[in-house]
Amino acid sequence: MNTHRISDVTVLNDQLEVPGIGFLPVNAYVLHAQQPVVVDTGLGLPGRDFVGALCEVIDPAEVRWIWLTHPDRDHTGGLFALLDAAPQARLVTTFVGVGIMSTERPLPIDRVYLLNPGQSLDVGDRTLRAFRPPLFDNPATTGFYDERTRTCFSSDCFGAPMPTPALAAVSDVREIPAADLRAAQLLWAAVDSPWVHNAHSDRYFDSVRAVRALGPETVYSTHLPPAAGIAQSLCDMLAAAPDTDPFVGPDQQALEAMLATFEPTAG
Ligand SMILES: [Fe+2]
Ligand SMILES: [Fe+2]
Repeated sequence: MNTHRISDVTVLNDQLEVPGIGFLPVNAYVLHAQQPVVVDTGLGLPGRDFVGALCEVIDPAEVRWIWLTHPDRDHTGGLFALLDAAPQARLVTTFVGVGIMSTERPLPIDRVYLLNPGQSLDVGDRTLRAFRPPLFDNPATTGFYDERTRTCFSSDCFGAPMPTPALAAVSDVREIPAADLRAAQLLWAAVDSPWVHNAHSDRYFDSVRAVRALGPETVYSTHLPPAAGIAQSLCDMLAAAPDTDPFVGPDQQALEAMLATFEPTAG
């Protein structure tokens, strides 16, 4: 895992290759507030040691909040190990988030802190305002806005698969040409939020306007390198998402054609 700090945020950057799509950044974050906040907990694949990587950044015993933006498996990898390592920490999620987690491994309910979009969390030196990002793939999704630093944590929204592993690990998304970034984000919107093609509604566009009105200086998405100074163009991309082509994944015939190109391994 590649970690780097920008102001009072540390990025714990990992990535996942998605065949035919690209290299998807998978970021977790530490917000170094007076009461430190860990945002998501990475992939659960073998060999990933989320808590070990986190220990290089902060003593888990100091962590006060684990903000689970939603309980998809690319966000929960280190969750239970972190709950063990961070006995002071409360887990921020929603009623639906608790319900979804209960289908695999129930959360310790005394550690849970239920917070809905529109509500706020006091973390000592700042208030974090929970909001539902315009694009999401899980009904428990809750991002937040840090008014003190004009920083937006957007969960899956604004994600973009990158053409190379190196670009999935950059610390500034502006290293990617703007047109390439927009195309990758629109592809991700179609892959991850296919309902957006049915969302030519005032409410969807209101949700985009709400992010635009916040005017975040920096956007931290789980699936995008850190994005400073480009929030308005990111919102332009969201406004275009309903009109892009739907994503259709490879079918069985395509899978078999792909497998046929592989050399048989020596036995
Ligand atoms: Fe997700
Ligand atoms: Fe995700």
